[in-house]
Amino acid sequence: MNPSSSSFLFLLVIFLVYSISASAIPVIGDNDVDEGFDPSKKLEGDKDNNNEFTLKVPTLELDDLPLDDLLSFNYYHKRCPDFEAIINRKVHEWINKDYTLAPSLLRLHFHDCFGRGCDASILLNHEGSERTAAASKTLRGFEVIDDIKAELENKCPKTVSCTDILSATTRDATVALGGPYWSLPYGRKDSRISIAKDADELVPMGHENVTSLLEFFQSKGLNVLDLVVLSGAHTIGRTSCESIQYRLYNYKGTGKPDSSIDAKYLNFLQRKCRWGSDYVDLDATTPRKFDNMYYKNLEKKMGLLSTDQLLYSDPRTSPIVGALADTPSVFKSQFGVSMARLADVQILSGKGEGEIRTNCNYVNSY
Ligand code: HEM
Ligand SMILES: *[C@@H]1O[C@H](CO)[C@@H](O)[C@H](O)[C@H]1NC(C)=O
Repeated sequence: MNPSSSSFLFLLVIFLVYSISASAIPVIGDNDVDEGFDPSKKLEGDKDNNNEFTLKVPTLELDDLPLDDLLSFNYYHKRCPDFEAIINRKVHEWINKDYTLAPSLLRLHFHDCFGRGCDASILLNHEGSERTAAASKTLRGFEVIDDIKAELENKCPKTVSCTDILSATTRDATVALGGPYWSLPYGRKDSRISIAKDADELVPMGHENVTSLLEFFQSKGLNVLDLVVLSGAHTIGRTSCESIQYRLYNYKGTGKPDSSIDAKYLNFLQRKCRWGSDYVDLDATTPRKFDNMYYKNLEKKMGLLSTDQLLYSDPRTSPIVGALADTPSVFKSQFGVSMARLADVQILSGKGEGEIRTNCNYVNSY
């Protein structure tokens, strides 16, 4: 049997399962009806019977779509109508000046969601916060979020959470480099807590085995398809040489380089990374384009992080790598689905949970 067609079938099956599960996400986070701004409130029954589910019945707001996700996806339509337009314009301004900010924003979002959860805890800038952790050392893009936040505070004071800004900014930055668009349910709140240890313990750094990666992802409610698909974010961006140095000369105490690196590529990396302070593209072939080349590189032993290359050799992940390498369109559509799932990790949205920061760097003081 042709291995690539069997892996494609395998992917199709999980793809279907995921499409179903993904469509269920927004319902979970739908509790923005407490806030009093939403026109659907007029359909609300007796407030005291506290039957929140009646609020989720599709309303008669026919100008708003899609019906089943009405409350979350429309969260800012009345509260801050230009929310997405402002973000989109700012993202383009910044990316046009420096496209490397796009991958950095994508990584920032990932680190935020894997630290405590998607709650903008990564943005808090105080002693001992996630942002000060070793795992956060090379994170960038904070100034983009600050700039967007300032503009939004100007237009819609105390309305748009830093968490929603970070997710939407990441999405638009991905689209700007040729990646997919995905819809985001809004209304998530910002945390008042951020602890460096969370970042160092919960964010994988590239030295892990696949079992351990799967455990990291599973602990966030994500699984093997999300792992392989989201690792495809490494189709853009770069790593510090420091992060891969250990593969190049004395891998795991063998006195030799990691044998899973292509010989020519290894030679290139050794020259490129003579100085630990340098950077190297994660996707050796098309570093500026959001495409599926990342997976094709893995097939050529040109994965830059060992966690990338291992996805190709581990039997739990290799069929998915093969399928994504063969079908760029599946990678793009599934990347959007998995990113929306990532944005839903451990969010703060219940009554009294979190706050809407006025400055993403600091919690509000009262
Ligand atoms: C699967 C586990 C993952 C590991 C072990 C991992 C590890 C890393 C490492 C070590 C770097 C380079 C850091 C440096 O030295 O500068 C990096 C960069 C990057 N990561 Fe990941 N990552 C993972 C998953 C993800 C996910 C899920 C995303 C986003 C959806 C992502 C997006 C990125 C991007 C875009 C960059 C480039 C950043 C830049 O150019 O500034 N990574 N990652
Ligand atoms: C994977 O890594 C974990 C954590 O470092 C370790 O406990 C485990 O033994 C490793 N598993 C394999 C199969 O190497």
